[in-house]
Amino acid sequence: MAAKAKPQKVGICDTTLRDGHQSLLATRFSTADILEVASAMDEVGFAAVEVWGGATFDTCMRYLNEDPWDRLRKIRKTMPKTKLQMLLRGQNLVGYRHYSDDVVDEFIKRAVGNGIDVIRIFDALNDLRNYSRAMEAAKKEGAHVQAAIAYTISPIHSIDYFAEEAAKLRDMGADSICIKDMAGLLLPFSAEKLVRTIIARTGLPVQMHSHYTSGMASMSYLKGIEAGAAIVDCAMSSMALASSQPAAVSIIAALKDTPYDTGLDLNVFAPINERLKQIRKKYKAFDNTDPRIDANVLRYQMPGGMISNFISQLKDANALDKLQEVLDEVPRVREDMGYPPLVTPTSQIVGAQALLNVLLGQRYKMATNEVKAYFRGEYGMPPGAINEQIRRQVIGDDKVITCRPADNIKSSFAKARKEIGAWTDDNEDVLLYIMFPQIARPFLEQKMIQETHIEYDMIGVEQNAKGQDVEFGPV
Ligand code: CO
Repeated sequence: MAAKAKPQKVGICDTTLRDGHQSLLATRFSTADILEVASAMDEVGFAAVEVWGGATFDTCMRYLNEDPWDRLRKIRKTMPKTKLQMLLRGQNLVGYRHYSDDVVDEFIKRAVGNGIDVIRIFDALNDLRNYSRAMEAAKKEGAHVQAAIAYTISPIHSIDYFAEEAAKLRDMGADSICIKDMAGLLLPFSAEKLVRTIIARTGLPVQMHSHYTSGMASMSYLKGIEAGAAIVDCAMSSMALASSQPAAVSIIAALKDTPYDTGLDLNVFAPINERLKQIRKKYKAFDNTDPRIDANVLRYQMPGGMISNFISQLKDANALDKLQEVLDEVPRVREDMGYPPLVTPTSQIVGAQALLNVLLGQRYKMATNEVKAYFRGEYGMPPGAINEQIRRQVIGDDKVITCRPADNIKSSFAKARKEIGAWTDDNEDVLLYIMFPQIARPFLEQKMIQETHIEYDMIGVEQNAKGQDVEFGPV
C-alpha cells in the first residue's frame, strides 16, 4: 500500500512588530512595547517573525530617539527560539537612496551579527542589479536570502515576467522567493497562477506577503496555499487587516485539519492579542485604519497610503477638489516612467510628480530632484520603456547611466567614519550616520554625552568611596 502523502505544513510569518505597526500606526511602536509581547510570541512556533528593517530603522531614531541596533539586540535576546526576519530595500538598505557596496556589506554584517536570520531583499524596480550586492553579502554572512518581487499590475507585468524574474533571482542565490504585494493588488486567482508558476520555474519555497487594504489578501493566501505557497505573512488579530496583513488566527483556523494545517495552537494567541490591543491604544494619534477596506486601491491600482497622502497634501494646498485629477495623473506619470511598481521609494517619486503636474496646471513644468535622478537612470532600469520626450524635457542633455547605479558610488564607509569620529568609533553608529546624517548627528552627540556622564558618575562614586573629592558629579 502506498504511504499516505505527508501533510504539507504551511508556515506563518508574523509581521506585527515591523509591517503591522508600520502600516497601521506610522511605525511608532517603541522597543519597550515590542518587548512586552516578544517573549510570548517566541512561544507560538512561527516560521519567522519580521521585526526589523523597512521604515522601523529610520523612525526608531527619528521619532523615538532609540537606537535601532539596540532594539534588534533586545528582540534577539527576548526571542531566542524564533527566526528573526528583516526587510531590506536592496542597495537602498533601510534608507531612500543607493549606498556604496562597502556600506551594504557592513550593514548586512552587523544586521546578521546582531541576530537577523532571514533577510528579505527587494528593489522598487525589480532591477536585479540592485539586489546583487545585498544578496551576496547576506549569503556570505550565512543568512537565509529571501528575494522579494514587488508585485504590481501594468501592461509590462505578467505572470511570466514575475516567474522569469524569480528564476533569475534563484540563479543569483536566493534561498526562497517572496511575492511582495505591498498594495494588496494581488487577486486570488492571479495569486494561484503566480505561485504555481514561480514554484514550477524555480523549485524554491514561495512566501506570500500581502496587505489587506483591498480586502483581498486572505482569499489570495488561500489560493496561493492551494498552489503550494510555503509560508504566508500574517499579523496578530489586534494589529491585522486594513492596510496591515491578514490575521494569523483566521488563516490558522481556515487551514486546520486540512493538508495545509499550520500545526499552531490558537489558544496561545488570545493573551498576546489582548496585550497588543492595550498597547495599540497608546498610538491612537497615529492610527490610520480608516477606511477598513479601501476600494480605491482596486480602482486606481495604487497603495492606500499614496491616496491618503494625496488627500492630506491637497488639503494643505487648498486644492482637495483636484483629487480626481491627481488620481488620473498617476497612471500617466507611471507610464512615462516605464511602469515602476509603486513601493518605497518609487511610490513617493511618482506621487510627488503627479501632484506637481496637476497643481501647476502643466505636465513636467517642474520636476522633483528624485524624478530627475530617476530619468537619469540613478534608481536603475525601469521595467518598461521610458517616454524619451518627457525624459529630455525633464533632464535636458544630462547623461543617462545604463550601468548598475551603485557602480558610480565610491566607497564611503571609511570617509563617514572619519567625519563622525569625534562622536563615535562604533561601526553601527557610523551606519546610522551614513544613512540618516541629519538625525544621526544630534542622536549620536546626545548618546555620547549620556555615555560620558555615566562614566563620570562611576568615577565620582569610586572617588567618594575612597574619601576623595568628587571630580565629576552627575550633570
Ligand atoms: Co508590506
